[in-house]
Amino acid sequence: AIRIADLFRREQELLGRTARVRGWVRTRRDSKAGISFIELNDGSCLKNLQIIVDLNLPQLTETVQKVSTGSSMQVEGVVNASPGKGQSIELHASGIELYGGADPATYPLQKKRHSFEFLRQIAHLRPRTNTIGAVARVRNRLSYAIHQFFQDRGFYYVHTPIITSSDCEGAGEVFRVTTLKPENMVGNEAGEAAAGDFFGKPAYLTVSGQLQAEIYALALGNVYTFGPTFRAENSNTSRHLAEFWMVEPEMAFCDLEEDLEIAQALIQRLVEVVLTDCREDLDFFVRFIEPTLRDTLEKVVESPFETVSYTDALELLKKSRESFSFPVDWGSDLQAEHERYLTEKVFKKPVAVVHFPRSLKPFYMRVNDDEKTVAAMDILVPGIGEIVGGSQREERLDVLLEQMKLKGVSPDDYRWYVELREYGSVPHAGFGLGLERLLQFTTGLPNIREVIPFPRTPGHADF
Ligand code: 4AD
Ligand code: MG
Repeated sequence: AIRIADLFRREQELLGRTARVRGWVRTRRDSKAGISFIELNDGSCLKNLQIIVDLNLPQLTETVQKVSTGSSMQVEGVVNASPGKGQSIELHASGIELYGGADPATYPLQKKRHSFEFLRQIAHLRPRTNTIGAVARVRNRLSYAIHQFFQDRGFYYVHTPIITSSDCEGAGEVFRVTTLKPENMVGNEAGEAAAGDFFGKPAYLTVSGQLQAEIYALALGNVYTFGPTFRAENSNTSRHLAEFWMVEPEMAFCDLEEDLEIAQALIQRLVEVVLTDCREDLDFFVRFIEPTLRDTLEKVVESPFETVSYTDALELLKKSRESFSFPVDWGSDLQAEHERYLTEKVFKKPVAVVHFPRSLKPFYMRVNDDEKTVAAMDILVPGIGEIVGGSQREERLDVLLEQMKLKGVSPDDYRWYVELREYGSVPHAGFGLGLERLLQFTTGLPNIREVIPFPRTPGHADF
């Protein structure tokens, strides 16, 4: 069998020849003239292949009657130029094999627009829709491009742990891991309460692979980690997940400026990949999700990002006539509304906000000479706000210890982290790019729940 995407790609060469395809039926329509039109999709591309079945052929008629939306089948036939508009080729069936039917009375997906809320309830079937299928293909392409970007530049891919005893961001948003015996499983109340630690010691699901990536950067130079991370933030927003994927490069002998350069190069490259390699899916998003998407993405590739200090950004916010719900006093954190104002109204392109107040950021960030700010960077993009958070790391032992004290982080718990400053410390920096935020940006989908196959949010851990 040939994938439908390949059939379309090679259509000139395959015209008049026999091909076999397999997939899921989007629709079937029978004409009065005795022809059945079947739209078949196999997930290899957005386009459906039109199958033409001559109902005067008795050996096919019986099978075709059982074909409905959602059915799976294999078709063999001749590739012909299509006289109809909307498709270049069609397949004239000579043989049909039905794998599985789908009762039209109960199959949840019909040929109409379903709401995203509804589709989330059928996460096992939603990849068969145009939107979620397109997202899956873009997500795949971007994941591969992330590895390509770093591998091309000599970075080593390091697998950092999922289970850890550290809380990198210090925000207390960790999920705790417990050792579970059958009697401690959900449903047994007494047992649940008695559930233990991770073999007698507290352990959490990682919020970031950064601290462990630092260990490897201080041995291998440039490294990156790319995996799932977890945040127990009980917020129901369109850009927060309890489980999301983060790309985290960590570079030795690197300062904030170079850190920012690499982040910009990465984002520009990934956006470029979507523009060039995901054209068909991008066209779909432009048509049905966000009309300005392609323009926005093209601009990102063409022009360098803006850089503004936190202090200057606050001045811009103060001067604006926008009425914000959150305060804009020096020392207050940038909220989504502020981030979007800066990138959508002021700069109209991605913006890197640098040098945040020390009080707002975790213990590991390098303290600036003013002693009030740290060498942090957040990259904000239109429509989303923050997609990257990063910093130069504190490499000076004495300052790190002072930072830990200030933030209530025990040097005993982070002995290994402190030792990296005692033995062969070097300036180093890194950042974290949220894959789902990037996907929201490149697909135009308003809710983060649509860009990850199985979204985990408060109350939702099904499938
Ligand atoms: O800004 P964050 O918290 O930074 C870190 O975790 C650093 N340790 C990264 C580093 O320097 N290696 O998170 C980084 C990015 C955010 O900019 C955002 O894109 C994404 O991760 N992110 C989330 N995405 C979805 N849901 C959430 N709850 C997210 N929290 C952060
Ligand atoms: Mg952040």
